[in-house]
Amino acid sequence: MINATNATADLTLEQQAALGSGGSFWATKTVGPAKPFTLTDGPHGVRKQNAGDDHLGIAPSMPATCFPPAVGLAQTWDADLVESVAIALGAEALERGVGVLLGPGVNIKRDPRCGRNFEYFSEDPIVSGILGAAWVNGLQSQGVGASVKHFAANNAEHDRMRSSSDVDPRTLREIYLRPFQRVVEDARPWTVMCSYNRINGVFASESKWLLTDVLRGEWGYEGAVISDWGAVRNRVRSVAAGVDLEMPGGTNTDALVVEAVDAGVLEPGTVQASAERTVALASLVEAGRLRPAGTDVDAHHALARDAATRSIVLLKNDDALLPLEPSGSIAVIGEFAEHPRFQGGGSSRVNPTRVDIPLTEIRARAGSARVTYAPGFSTQGTEDSEGLRSAAVRTAAAADVAVVFLGLGDRQESEGFDRSDIEIPADQLHLLTEIAAAQPSTVVVLSHGGVLRLSAVIDLVPAILDGGLLGQGGGAAIADTLFGLANPSGRLTETIPVRLEDSPAFLNFPGENAHTLYGEGQFVGYRWYDARRFEVSFPFGHGLSYTSFEYSALAVSAEQDGIEARVTVRNVGARAGREIVQFYTSKIESAVTRPLRELKAFTTVHLRPEESSEVTVRIRREDLAYWDIRIDDWVIEGGNYVVAAGASSRDIRQSTTVEIAPGGARVPITLESTVGEVLEIPAAAAILGELMADSTGNSDAAESALGIDLKKMMASFPLSQLVAFRGDDGRAILDRLLEAANNR
Ligand code: GLC
Repeated sequence: MINATNATADLTLEQQAALGSGGSFWATKTVGPAKPFTLTDGPHGVRKQNAGDDHLGIAPSMPATCFPPAVGLAQTWDADLVESVAIALGAEALERGVGVLLGPGVNIKRDPRCGRNFEYFSEDPIVSGILGAAWVNGLQSQGVGASVKHFAANNAEHDRMRSSSDVDPRTLREIYLRPFQRVVEDARPWTVMCSYNRINGVFASESKWLLTDVLRGEWGYEGAVISDWGAVRNRVRSVAAGVDLEMPGGTNTDALVVEAVDAGVLEPGTVQASAERTVALASLVEAGRLRPAGTDVDAHHALARDAATRSIVLLKNDDALLPLEPSGSIAVIGEFAEHPRFQGGGSSRVNPTRVDIPLTEIRARAGSARVTYAPGFSTQGTEDSEGLRSAAVRTAAAADVAVVFLGLGDRQESEGFDRSDIEIPADQLHLLTEIAAAQPSTVVVLSHGGVLRLSAVIDLVPAILDGGLLGQGGGAAIADTLFGLANPSGRLTETIPVRLEDSPAFLNFPGENAHTLYGEGQFVGYRWYDARRFEVSFPFGHGLSYTSFEYSALAVSAEQDGIEARVTVRNVGARAGREIVQFYTSKIESAVTRPLRELKAFTTVHLRPEESSEVTVRIRREDLAYWDIRIDDWVIEGGNYVVAAGASSRDIRQSTTVEIAPGGARVPITLESTVGEVLEIPAAAAILGELMADSTGNSDAAESALGIDLKKMMASFPLSQLVAFRGDDGRAILDRLLEAANNR
């Protein structure tokens, strides 16, 4: 490993500046001891272009395993599996000479219309953070660097290179920065990618607060910050803010850095420190290159199939229509059965090593069943839709069961633009309505990156399978699940609302005039639907199985570093299966507004019929904190918390309470504190009575005489005004009160 500090000390300012920008579209420069290396996309496969360079997935790339994009992989809720996939990605990246693989994407799914939600894990920061950290750990274990992205608050594609995400400080900390903080602190990614957008008016690439004060000062990050491709607007301001590597190369802005230093606009130390981080990064990549490269394409395809199988969510299965028997007659309907959509569009698009075709895989597992097929619609929109539809309805009606593949095509969602609705395409809905009327035994299989409104189809059919996007192994995964060769265990990581109008950001998405107001605050996803008591089609965390599980004996204990929670899960059905046990907390009588419940931990358990197991999780103490905007710091409220174990955010199976000691920063009592805030502190409340006593020295008299609750009436009274009312002896009492309150 090169010693970065010594290395850059020997470099000229020009060389140090040269280290801060790429040498080409995908590679860094050769400067001093730093050898050039390649960065390329991720996150669900290695997109190493071999003819032409672009960040939109247009020019061809070398074949590589296309694993399930994050929308699917996250539905496994399995950090170990995500880590295994990332290990395979690391091996393939190394084999293709890639030093940094650009992922994971951990941006929060703020609105279901975001065109890039397929590339992100969840609406929840804990799911995003835990799975993002697992991805980074897996990848970097292979000697390839990660680039956690897009830092930060990049939650729409519309106007992404200019728009300001206007987010209040508490929401920014608790929701949008939280996944990045978890990944940085738990997995130490070699790089962090700053996003295109502004945050509260400042470009991420020019935000010293974000890239230096928070990322490095608070989170202790020591790696390199790279820009998103084309995210640097002003090289000098970006270097000052903390961007270490401007990508892509070829912008010829190195001289501006030298001029800025010579003019005294930029500290030379800032440039050297940045150069040190780039040299250190090059050194890590160099060390990674020494590892043996070589991958087993078949083994990686098998892993892609396994990950796809675990990604599938069984949303509905009335009358146990699924799994299907391999007998009788099965009609397979829908173009996606023959031409599957298994990944999203844009920079993440992978050239797969092979693709499992659902129709082929169904036929291979159908046994004696006669399998018929009709496309039913065309995503190219070129063919006779009436003819396609009527032929498909006839085919479905003639069979014992119909399996209908529906979803979104590449043209309907992608990086680079957002959807304007969450509807299933009208021609597909029309087709399904006619099939459901002709064939009561109909299964719907969905493929899509962003959430689809299902309220129009739920009652049409008895069974719905949803995989989001499943990667190249999705066809076999769907077939295995349809015939019960696999028991579905996926769980939603994004709520499916009844109506788009019910969604949190409906009135504030995608923003306009280069501003997006995050008006829903912390109430994103299930936090919103729970707070508003909205019905949803399928809740966050939902997923059925071909078996069923019962929970018992939830026990929790407050520990030094958090809460230990244990619950027993029993498989009470006839098939082996996997349960994803979710743990939510709620603060009882919080001093601040909080969601009804928030996911804090989860684990998966595989059980045979009648088998039971006690699962244990640790809820981190810091994950109980809220961000207090009065002191700009984390506060852990003391008091009672509800801990709930559930099979989804709305299927709580066991619940109990635990008392937690206060912690984190303390909000000082000052002259601006109110009577209500002082009453929360027993030691100070006692003195408050003196301050509030009336001329007779007895405030109770006033209350009894007037039949009022004086303390309640005065709760919003600032101490400063109380003293003013009380006259000169009030100041002495106040000093005692402040002493008692702040030195307790
Ligand atoms: C794209 C994406 C980013 C990607 C980069 C390189 O614009 O925003 O995720 O890694 O450019 O393709």
